[in-house]
Amino acid sequence: MDNNINELACKLLETRKLTAEEYAYLIEHRDSETTEFLREHAVCIRKETYGNEVLIRGLIEVSNICKNDCLYCGIRKSNWRAERYRLSEKEILSAAETGYGLGFKTFVLQGGEDAWYTDERLERIIRQIKKKYPDCAVTLSLGERGRESFQRLRAAGADRYLLRHETADREHYRKLHPPEMSFEHRMECLRELKELGFQTGAGFMVGSPFQTTENLAMDLKFLEEFQPEMCGIGPFIPHHDTPFSEYNAGSVELTCFLLSVIRIICPKVLLPATTALGTLDPEGREKGILSGANVVMPNLSPANVRSKYLLYDGKLAAGAEAAENLADLKQRIEKIGYKVVEKK
Ligand code: 5AD
Repeated sequence: MDNNINELACKLLETRKLTAEEYAYLIEHRDSETTEFLREHAVCIRKETYGNEVLIRGLIEVSNICKNDCLYCGIRKSNWRAERYRLSEKEILSAAETGYGLGFKTFVLQGGEDAWYTDERLERIIRQIKKKYPDCAVTLSLGERGRESFQRLRAAGADRYLLRHETADREHYRKLHPPEMSFEHRMECLRELKELGFQTGAGFMVGSPFQTTENLAMDLKFLEEFQPEMCGIGPFIPHHDTPFSEYNAGSVELTCFLLSVIRIICPKVLLPATTALGTLDPEGREKGILSGANVVMPNLSPANVRSKYLLYDGKLAAGAEAAENLADLKQRIEKIGYKVVEKK
C-alpha cells in the first residue's frame, strides 16, 4: 500500500473527516488494498448501528411531469418523447396499500416537480397514509419547494425528504442544470428541510458529465458538514433523449468506494444501494450493501407507469427491483449474509 494513501485511510477512520485535498488524493490514488481496507471498516461501522439488517422502502413514482430541464434527466421538460403520467390520490393510496401488504413500512413518494401536487393535495395524501398506517414513515422526494410548503408537508406528517444536492460545486452545478435553476436555492431547501425536522437526504451522481475528482471531494466535504440522515448516490447513466446522451456512464467501482467513505463520514446515515447501481451491474445492489449501504428501495409504482419513469436508459423496474418480488430480493440479500427487515 502506498504510504500516503495508507495514512489518509487511517486518518479518515480516526477522525471521520479529511480536507478536500485529502479526499481528492484518496479518490485519485485508491488501490485495491485501500478500497478493501475502507470497505471492511465501513461494514463494521454499519454493523454497529444496523447489524446485518437491510431496510426496505417502497418507491412510488407519482409523476414524471417536471417543470425542470436538468440536462442529465430523461424526464426533463424538453424531452417531448417522454410519455407523461401522473398518479391520482387514489392510485397513490392504493400503491401504499399494496406495499403495506407486502411488508413495507416506509413509502417514498417520488416525482418530477409537478405543480398538480399542491400542498393541499399532498397534505391530504400524507394524512391519509399516516392515518391508515400509523406504524409507517412517509418520505417525500418531490424536488424544490418553498419553506412554507415544506412546513405544511411536515405538519401533515411527512417524516423524511430526499433532495439530492447533485453536486456541491456551484460551477459544476451550472453545467448540469439550465440557467433558471440555482445551486443556492437547492442548498437553501436542504437547510430548511433539516431545520423543519425532516430526516433529510442529500446525494449526488457519480461520473456525471464534467465531474472532476475535486468535485467529488467537495461532495464529501459537504456531507461531512451537513450530516444528512440519508444519502443517495448512484452512477450517472446516460439517457438517449437528453443533451448528455453521448457521455459515458459512471463507475460502479468508484460508487462503491464512495459508499464506504460516506459510511465512515456519516456512520448512521441511511445509505441506499440505488437502482442506478443495480442497473449498471446485475450485482450492483449486493456490491453496494457489501460496501456499507443499508437500504434498498424496490419499485411500488403501478405496473403500467413503471417504464415511463425513465430517468436514464435501461432503468430497472422488474426482477428484484419490483416490490412484488420481495421474496427474490430477500433471498439475494440473505445470500450475502444480510437480512431484509420490515422497519420504518
Ligand atoms: N443517471 C443517474 N441518475 C440520474 N438521476 C437523474 N437522471 C439520472 C441519470 N441520467 C438521479 C438524480 C435525481 C434522482 C431522482 O435521480 O440524482 O436526483
